[in-house]
Amino acid sequence: MTQWNRKDQHVHLAEMQRTDLGHADFNDIRFVHHSFSNMAVADVDLTTKLGPFHLSSPFFINAMTGGSPKTKQINQNLAILARDADLAMAVGSVSAAIADSTLEDSFKIVRQTNPNGLIFANLGAHHSVENAKRVVTLLEADALQIHLNIPQEIVMPEGDRDFSGWLKNVEKITKELSVPVIVKEVGFGMSQKTIQQLLNVGVTIIDVSGRGGTNFIQIENERRKAQEYNYLYEWGQSTVESLLEASSFAHQADFIASGGIKNPLHMVKAIRLGASAIGISGEFLHMVLTNSNDLSLAKINSWNQELKGLLTLLEVSRLSDIRKAEIILSPNLLSWCQQRNIP
Ligand code: FNR
Repeated sequence: MTQWNRKDQHVHLAEMQRTDLGHADFNDIRFVHHSFSNMAVADVDLTTKLGPFHLSSPFFINAMTGGSPKTKQINQNLAILARDADLAMAVGSVSAAIADSTLEDSFKIVRQTNPNGLIFANLGAHHSVENAKRVVTLLEADALQIHLNIPQEIVMPEGDRDFSGWLKNVEKITKELSVPVIVKEVGFGMSQKTIQQLLNVGVTIIDVSGRGGTNFIQIENERRKAQEYNYLYEWGQSTVESLLEASSFAHQADFIASGGIKNPLHMVKAIRLGASAIGISGEFLHMVLTNSNDLSLAKINSWNQELKGLLTLLEVSRLSDIRKAEIILSPNLLSWCQQRNIP
């Protein structure tokens, strides 16, 4: 199976999966409603800070693709959307272009389309500092995302089988790269232990990317002849559980929430639980595969307006103030917190 075939399959299977997705536990957290709000929608400021970056709204296009002619087109459409809506955008793993330089175009198109945009390169954790520097240069990237995806590798027939050097590599890349490093999961969530390990090696921007959206165990299993791993689809922490795991480290890193985020209420709940920014992949993929750029842009504008409405409901004018809003957790989430010693 060639590299570019795999990228096309991922896109196809992710889009097919969209209809039967689980949920990221956002239904297990509720805001308490109050009947007065001493402010106007026009008072709301949606800007947010993520590490050294200032975002004009909290959500961005998270890592997906590149590495084939078809995914080059998808990357271009995503980059047009990112440019027109002023959203940050991460490309998919640039690994394929390191192995075969003829594939570089499918990533470079993102920078060519959006010369002044905030763009994140992306690589797996087994890569060398040299490769990390190479992909940052290739994209003139503002940051590098390093993805952690052991469950995906295990289920992928051609996946890696030795992960022993990953944390050390993350440390080296973080220390030697001239741009910030963002470490992310790919939809399996993070634990307190993982977050502490990342903090120990100097990582200060962490995307917990939890379970409940795009499911790479399912995607890779569907690429296997015998589909042996269909019992493993629930593996990992949901996005909400991952944010609860991250809550003890709130002042030591900036957290990104991703995984199953589909609407502004999910975004607001994720910010309430400590996220500084929101990564969205599957939903943006669906948008560019099924909509014109104008329709996608209208959807994004609507999300921004809806966010302002929700902040007004919560009587907060700045995103970070959402963290003061009163919430109720379901018995399931409360039990998670108790068993995991989360205050
Ligand atoms: C991804 N994701 C991903 N992540 C990463 O770090 N490098 C990658 O190359 C890819 N590739 C990729 C392809 C496709 C088609 C999708 C849909 C996703 C994972 C992504 O960034 C994110 O962590 C998860 O998809 C969970 O978010 P959503 O999709 O539920 O919003």
